[in-house]
Amino acid sequence: MSITIAFDVYGTLIDTNGVVDKLTETLGDIAPSFANTWREKQLEYSFRRGLMQNYEHFGICTQQALDYTCLFYEIDMSQSQKLALLDIYKSLPAFSDVIAALIELKNNGHRLYAFSNGNEAAVEGLLNAANIRDYFLGVVSVDPLQTFKPNPSVYNHFLNETNTPKDQAWLISSNPFDVLGALSVGMSAAWVKRSDKAIFDPWGLEPTITINSLAQLNAGISKIH
Ligand code: LAC
Repeated sequence: MSITIAFDVYGTLIDTNGVVDKLTETLGDIAPSFANTWREKQLEYSFRRGLMQNYEHFGICTQQALDYTCLFYEIDMSQSQKLALLDIYKSLPAFSDVIAALIELKNNGHRLYAFSNGNEAAVEGLLNAANIRDYFLGVVSVDPLQTFKPNPSVYNHFLNETNTPKDQAWLISSNPFDVLGALSVGMSAAWVKRSDKAIFDPWGLEPTITINSLAQLNAGISKIH
């Protein structure tokens, strides 16, 4: 059966750890913790803006989270250093398992989309820079809804935009909150557990499948459909 697949972008297709290398040049050993706080704040700001109905696009959440993280670590980063970091966020590499997995899924007749908190221009730019844009039929962004994942409206927006019944739609994400968001509207969802230490939120809902690498995705979907 042909399935419509929504790929989360940051952390699932695109490796945001690329930022750590740049941070290490200026910050040394604290770079991984800094990057982690930055990522957590970025998501927290998106959740809070969604709840407050005070939307600014995801790039603003990223930028303000960087400002917060500098304050938290008491790092006096110049504006040009911040801009250089934010520029890296626009052209991060894809994970090494991405291209082979996308080819395999496409060859099996599945319909592939990128589905992101990022606005359309940012996601198009990122996918193009990582040389993976052509594998997708399109980019679906939360931006027209002026809210963020995991608001159920954004998953329903994906289903509407791609004309897909929910029992034929999968979300693929390394972010547990995203997987839970998709499951909650009745989509199937694969959790990409990219690190042994990653924890799935103990909310009593389990991913349809859990995989360590996108290389396992096609086989995992085939077992179910
Ligand atoms: C995205 C973030 C949540 O791409 O990773 O939507």
